[in-house]
Amino acid sequence: MTGISSNPAAPARPVPASTTAIERAARLLREGELVAFPTETVYGLGGDATSEGAVARIFAAKGRPRFNPLIVHVPGLADAEALALFDERARIAARRFWPGPLSLVLPRRRESGLALLASAGLDTVALRAPAHAVAQALLHAAGRPIAAPSANRSGRVSPTTAAHVAAELGERVALILDAGPCSVGVESTVLDLTGAVPALLRPGGVTLEQLSEIFGPIETAASGEDAPRAPGRLPSHYAPGRPLRLAAVDARPGEALLAFGPEAPAGFADVLFLSRSGDLGEAAANLFAMLRRLDRPEFTEIAVMAIPEFGLGRAINDRLRRAAAPRRGR
Ligand code: TXA
Ligand code: MG
Repeated sequence: MTGISSNPAAPARPVPASTTAIERAARLLREGELVAFPTETVYGLGGDATSEGAVARIFAAKGRPRFNPLIVHVPGLADAEALALFDERARIAARRFWPGPLSLVLPRRRESGLALLASAGLDTVALRAPAHAVAQALLHAAGRPIAAPSANRSGRVSPTTAAHVAAELGERVALILDAGPCSVGVESTVLDLTGAVPALLRPGGVTLEQLSEIFGPIETAASGEDAPRAPGRLPSHYAPGRPLRLAAVDARPGEALLAFGPEAPAGFADVLFLSRSGDLGEAAANLFAMLRRLDRPEFTEIAVMAIPEFGLGRAINDRLRRAAAPRRGR
């Protein structure tokens, strides 16, 4: 195997997230090891954000380019204020949406103690307080900020179960905490508050509509002259092995279908329903696991029916478009 783990003996298998397991995970984090843990969005690959070594191990384990900064996780606003400069806007956002699926990009404090590599050398940092009880317990027990990208190999589909993490990164983590499937299922919204106008760098679990209610106009990739400052938003990402075909209305030979709504067109080799009732929250929670389930060699392609472009639909469509984008080596 291609193990570069600090624990090369055997691949980590998921462990139920008991109090004892969380304490063990916290100890491993303090020792500089990597631990996978559940959040309400996706499973994260955690490492001590104050340790350059631990953060470097995260990049190595994922095969992640070092220009793509990580999200730093904290229990809440008080801890976050020690790491970054919060203006009134940022405090309002944190009070309204934390703990929850929103990451705020803010000017990093000089004395934050965060590893420079966590920010990929930028003078900003993305901060998030996750809502999952296990993530909260782990952050409290670790007693330090935890850098955690999604626990998948770089460019691949994000994990929403502990088994997904074990399959992709089992050899590269010391421990995988298992608390069942993630409830939100798409990653956090990344909101840049370093400029005059808030900029949406990544649509996610908190919707643009929810943010606009509070902030008014928000810069998006479509609204700005340039794409907003998003170092890690590679066009091809979240990619399954099979090619993806979007807004499908009929079947092509050998295709599997991800359906949305009560009815699927006939003729597909297999069909999974993201949501039969057309519920975007249910579709988001199912998205990554169903993409993985249909990613099998017997299918020529994965077709996906159209998803409405509002609410959580924006995050779903963003992931689908990136999953469908042409990639190198194919
Ligand atoms: O829901 C989530 O956010 C999950 C869970 C584990 O919390 N984490 C996650 O991390 O999705 P990751 O590394 O897969 O995505 C982080 C995103 C990337 O698009 C990255 O470019 C952006 O946040 N980001 C991080 N720091 C940034 C910064 N200082 N400026 C701009 N973008 C930043
Ligand atoms: Mg990711």
